[in-house]
Amino acid sequence: MSDNQLFKPEERIELQRVLSKMNREQLLWLGGYISAAIDFAPAVHASYANPVIEPKVLTHLEEESSGGVSSPQSLTILFGSHSGNSEKIAQIARKEAQRLGLEAKVRNMEDYNPRSLKDEEQLLVIVSTHGEGEPPLAAQELYEKLKSGRGFSAENIRYLVIALGDSTYKHFCKTGHDFFEFLKKLGASPLRDVVELDTDFNTRLSGLIPEVVGQFATVNAAQSAQSSRPAAAKDVEVDIQDGPVEVEIIEKIQLNGRGADKETWHIELVAEHPALKYQPGDAIEVFTENDPSLVAAVLDTVGLDGRELVDIDGARMSLKEALQYHSELTVLTAPVVKKYSTFLQNETFNRLLEDPEQLSAFLAGTDVLDLLQKYPAELKAVDLVSTLRRLAPRAYSIASSPEEVGNEIHITVGAVRYEKEGRRRNGVCSTFLADRVDVGQRLKVKIRSNNQFRLPEDGNTSVIMVGAGTGIAPYRGFLQQRAALGHKGRNWLIFGDRHFTTDFLYQTEWLKYRNSGLLTRLDVAFSRDQEQKIYVQHKMKQNAGELYKWISEGGRFYVCGDMKTMAVDVRNTFLSILQAEGGMSPEQSLEYFNKLRKERRYQEDVY
Ligand SMILES: Cc1cc2nc3c(=O)[nH]c(=O)nc-3n(C[C@H](O)[C@H](O)[C@H](O)COP(=O)(O)OP(=O)(O)OC[C@H]3O[C@@H](n4cnc5c(N)ncnc54)[C@H](O)[C@@H]3O)c2cc1C
Ligand SMILES: Cc1cc2nc3c(=O)[nH]c(=O)nc-3n(C[C@H](O)[C@H](O)[C@H](O)COP(=O)(O)O)c2cc1C
Repeated sequence: MSDNQLFKPEERIELQRVLSKMNREQLLWLGGYISAAIDFAPAVHASYANPVIEPKVLTHLEEESSGGVSSPQSLTILFGSHSGNSEKIAQIARKEAQRLGLEAKVRNMEDYNPRSLKDEEQLLVIVSTHGEGEPPLAAQELYEKLKSGRGFSAENIRYLVIALGDSTYKHFCKTGHDFFEFLKKLGASPLRDVVELDTDFNTRLSGLIPEVVGQFATVNAAQSAQSSRPAAAKDVEVDIQDGPVEVEIIEKIQLNGRGADKETWHIELVAEHPALKYQPGDAIEVFTENDPSLVAAVLDTVGLDGRELVDIDGARMSLKEALQYHSELTVLTAPVVKKYSTFLQNETFNRLLEDPEQLSAFLAGTDVLDLLQKYPAELKAVDLVSTLRRLAPRAYSIASSPEEVGNEIHITVGAVRYEKEGRRRNGVCSTFLADRVDVGQRLKVKIRSNNQFRLPEDGNTSVIMVGAGTGIAPYRGFLQQRAALGHKGRNWLIFGDRHFTTDFLYQTEWLKYRNSGLLTRLDVAFSRDQEQKIYVQHKMKQNAGELYKWISEGGRFYVCGDMKTMAVDVRNTFLSILQAEGGMSPEQSLEYFNKLRKERRYQEDVY
């Protein structure tokens, strides 16, 4: 079919007019865009069999393109990751880029020199957000450098940012947005707005990656790649290979003593599966399901009986099944309430959405049932499931070492239960584990590796481990590992919880390790056993001289548990110890602290 047959004369003239006005960047962008569009619209494919770009335009492209028509365009895929998701997506994007004829390389932000920016042509940034809206540690240095902007140029770069995040956090995908702005300020040209990925990103990748990477494919590269493409982009198989694996529960013990006001479970899982290989410091993700009584209350509130059919990832199922196994009911996020508002047309509700402070106050401790009850809307089954977020697995730090327990995985789970507005609420995963599964039953899990929380390779290095509540979990794995491998380095555990009599988690094991000499020091802080609250940071302060000595002799410092208060207090106390014991100014202590973080001598696993 010729272009004469495909386009009316006035359309051809209009196309030529538009194309002839475009500069090289615009044409390159359009080439990638069309390439992706072809894959998503098979009927349009034929209409591009004869390219509409006139020879005159192609000549203009050849002249300006430094590599000539046949040389592949380069694409640097730069990832910044803490728990590996961004890195996995970077590898998937690399495969897709190569399929499209791009010369793609994957680079870790941790080792990336921003001076290389001047040599980049195309950049795909894939980065997650951690802490409370902070870059992952591995991305921090690059983040600071690009933020300052001094001495770097990104003027020749076309770029795109994929931001990973979790919409339950206030600063959703913030780091990705920040990188987007930094690069823009440095003169780079964005190909589109930031692509935000929530915890259900796996379900979006097979469509998204070809679309995003396709935007980088140049007109020439796209043309040459088209003939050799093994499949249309929409058929691309995303090789994630990290689905969950089934494990059996072989032990489940309540760790708190009688009369405790907390509920912490020790759970042992077992399975022989290569995907379940782990190291101390890693976590597992547990795939969970909603409480049937909450599902029933939701159905009752929306006036649906649960037998309505809906589609989830191409699978047809009843609404009840979708709500129980696939929809997030216990936590509410900003994107969900924004989608929900389209069914409401309620001015008060819309005003709430526009005020970030009011919105985050509304979201805290509010669940889907609250939303449906407070702001009733007429919803069909399909409206409800498409509004709700996909149920995400929850992470639990592994509390064992494979050197000690073989193919078992132990975890320490604090049950989340609270009351609000006269209704008892239960955390979906922690109470699924506490209430609805037992020994002999099976769970679906996945290892979430964490290279940012590792024992030193040198077994002679001293370690100081600070943890509160379930933050004790990884240290059980650390000590099992050091005992099993006969490591001689000193071990100091600083543990905190509420009461000595009920909440001294794994007490007998620590005492055994102290008696054997494996645990060189054990300090405990039970906050509610006396009028004055005592926390782990107070124990650090009481032993400031010794702590500074361990650190200045090359020791490593670990913090695990609550992110919002404990980790902040521990960090501030650590800085004050550097100042008091090391004679450092506040600036010097911060500089020293950052150096320790970079050298992996101050590591955090906080949540
Ligand atoms: C890397 C990592 C490691 C982790 N390790 C562990 C671990 O070893 N052990 C462990 O127990 N947990 C651990 N967690 C936390 C765990 O993943 C879950 O977040 C936790 O179990 C709660 O999940 P849930 O599904 O039970 O609760 P959800 O259904 O997710 O509900 C939690 C939500 O309830 C609300 N909420 C809770 N308490 C209150 C309250 N008092 N008032 C109002 N609202 C409230 C909050 O909005 C909160 O977001 C870890 C998390 C990460 C990221
Ligand atoms: C402790 C912790 C803090 C987080 N903080 C945020 C946050 O502030 N904003 C956000 O959007 N996502 C946040 N996330 C979610 C991560 O960005 C998300 O899990 C992402 O997929 C991780 O990608 P990575 O494995 O490449 O690091 C946080 C996750 C954890 C474990």
